[in-house]
Amino acid sequence: MLDAVVNKDKCTKCHLCATDCPIKIIKVDDDGFPFIPAERKNHCIKCQHCLVTCPGGAFSIFGINPDNCADSKNIPSDLQMENMIKTRRSVRKYKTKDVKSEDLDRLLKAVANAPTGKNCREVEFTVINKRSEMAKFKNFVYDLIDEYINHEKMPDEFAYYVHLLKAYRDGNDVIFRNAPHLFIAHSPKSGPTPIPDCYIALTYFELMAASMKIGSVWLGFLAYLFDFMPEIREKLGIPEDHEVPYALLFGHPAVKYYRGVERNDYKLHTPVF
Ligand SMILES: Cc1cc2nc3c(=O)[nH]c(=O)nc-3n(C[C@H](O)[C@H](O)[C@H](O)COP(=O)(O)O)c2cc1C
Repeated sequence: MLDAVVNKDKCTKCHLCATDCPIKIIKVDDDGFPFIPAERKNHCIKCQHCLVTCPGGAFSIFGINPDNCADSKNIPSDLQMENMIKTRRSVRKYKTKDVKSEDLDRLLKAVANAPTGKNCREVEFTVINKRSEMAKFKNFVYDLIDEYINHEKMPDEFAYYVHLLKAYRDGNDVIFRNAPHLFIAHSPKSGPTPIPDCYIALTYFELMAASMKIGSVWLGFLAYLFDFMPEIREKLGIPEDHEVPYALLFGHPAVKYYRGVERNDYKLHTPVF
């Protein structure tokens, strides 16, 4: 149900909605007003460009009131964005308190707006939202590592997990950094672009979290295990037919960074044809 409604008092017949529609399903009626013909409705990819490109807020779709949408003028400046990128850090020390559920909800709602291939929006989030659950999960993972090592099921390239396990038993949680929470993005393999979609969601999560003073760190040490320890995905309830490329730890930082890093060098290739 698209529920596309054009407010004829506000519509100036500029047709920006029709020209910006990526699928070109918006037509113009005999009076010059845009509309979506019934036979084209199921081609809509639900991107909402018609809603957001209308200068006067005359186009509503999916029951969304244009007046209630995010303000495109109220965005970070280029300097603020650059500082955000330079000052976000991998946080490896966390306070022993949970992120409030309303803050987590706000964060996840923002991430739900991240782009996905064909706007398929199939990325699902698995979040360990309580420290008490995180404690149980990480014990499960470390015990599983123990079992894999003891039964010689650990692939050679991950033999070093024996040291991570020993560190944990000695009180140093190198894999999970004593973080209170875990965020995982996963998406059906059948979708158009599941792996990029998940990485984009994770990246947006990291930046939005940083803007809310919530720290995070990419969790390669767990992601490597996803590939050969099906028990972890099963424990988390992640469907078998989903790609699960990566995870992030997150929580309130117990460390402060007083400035951004400067890593401005890059390798540039500019092919000429
Ligand atoms: C794909 C990826 C995987 C990572 N995995 C881990 C990890 O398992 N544990 C960890 O402590 N840091 C991990 N990191 C953090 C990097 O070590 C970190 O980004 C890098 O040292 C630069 O520091 P910065 O993020 O504070 O700029 C990972 C980062 C990326 C991008």
